[in-house]
Amino acid sequence: MSSPGPLSPLFRPFALAGLSLRNRIAMAPMTRERAPGGVPTEAMAAYYARRAAGGTGLIVTEGIATDAVGCFGDHVPRLFGPDVGDAWRRLVDGVHAEGAAIMAQLWHVGAFAPSMIGMADGAHPMERISPSGLAAPDRPFGRMMTEGDIAASIAAFAEAAATARSVGFDGVELHGAHGYLIDQFLWPRTNRRTDRFGPADRTRFAVELVRAIRRATDSTFAISFRLSQWKQLDYDARLADAPGELAAIVGPLAEAGVDLFHCSTRRFWEPAFAGDDRTLAAWVRALTGRPAMTVGSITLDVDFKEPSGKVHASGVAAHVAMLERGLERGWFDLVAVGRAMIANPDWARRVRDGDIEDLRPFTGAMLETLI
Ligand SMILES: Cc1cc2nc3c(=O)[nH]c(=O)nc-3n(C[C@H](O)[C@H](O)[C@H](O)COP(=O)(O)O)c2cc1C
Repeated sequence: MSSPGPLSPLFRPFALAGLSLRNRIAMAPMTRERAPGGVPTEAMAAYYARRAAGGTGLIVTEGIATDAVGCFGDHVPRLFGPDVGDAWRRLVDGVHAEGAAIMAQLWHVGAFAPSMIGMADGAHPMERISPSGLAAPDRPFGRMMTEGDIAASIAAFAEAAATARSVGFDGVELHGAHGYLIDQFLWPRTNRRTDRFGPADRTRFAVELVRAIRRATDSTFAISFRLSQWKQLDYDARLADAPGELAAIVGPLAEAGVDLFHCSTRRFWEPAFAGDDRTLAAWVRALTGRPAMTVGSITLDVDFKEPSGKVHASGVAAHVAMLERGLERGWFDLVAVGRAMIANPDWARRVRDGDIEDLRPFTGAMLETLI
């Protein structure tokens, strides 16, 4: 078992589309709702630059709205409108200056309101739209999208991606996970349409998004696609019950030009299907031949915490070893760290230097400010 350190496979560079990443460690996308009116602030720029300075190879931003109707709330950053470009450019430049790459996560919530997950219900003056007017199988909300709405939404994603490229982002990630718009199309239980975007061609919307983004950018601009089995409103939901069903979803997306699949699981080590050890990332990588990123509870397991809240270094080292093994056996290429990187902006540097004795445990209070 190798130990954390500069020779660890976590610190091997990685090439992705036109990008050369300095290591395999990414910051997971985490909504912070700290952008009044949707404009990124200096505090946000400093927050991301700190993670870059802490050794992270790739930053995936929090979800960013592509249009008003798909926006989670009025403190969520946006990539539309004439007044956001300069702020994004400063934020991106700050991350690049610290040696990391950065992708913008494009997020349309579809039939979803913050209040559904107990968050403050931000201003969302527009009606909610989605494939079938369903936030969950038994939860009607908003209205069904017309083909005109679908075309407008795809155009907005493409324009947001073009804007992202023009302000210096290295790529975009499509938020196709957790029960939001793209996932609402992918999942037959929230996609009851009878037209060409219906469940018989559940990937059509996502595939058209990828193609439109590729047309609006170029082949060096990285496109990541995030997917998950689970939904915000149902942790036990499953997008695919078997590997063949998963293949039918990710295959057309790979063919459309996805460079990286970000496989969102709540615990990175859990098998995706009964009877086989492989995780969602391992399956997607094997089924598509494309790079995959894993995520979920990295160095975060509560079992690692003493009552004092101290995180046991042995637990951290065990997770790092599991990640190294996953990289070595070709289960995934990149690892995304979420809450542990909120608690430890220098997570990557500490793991590289073996300085893991006093990693700070994550607490909910850390979400109250942009530390
Ligand atoms: C505060 C918070 C906000 C999040 N916002 C997003 C988001 O905007 N987009 C997304 O795809 N996932 C989001 N997630 C999920 C994370 O990207 C990640 O998958 C999850 O936290 C599991 O990783 P972790 O156990 O390392 O934190 C969020 C998670 C947290 C804790």
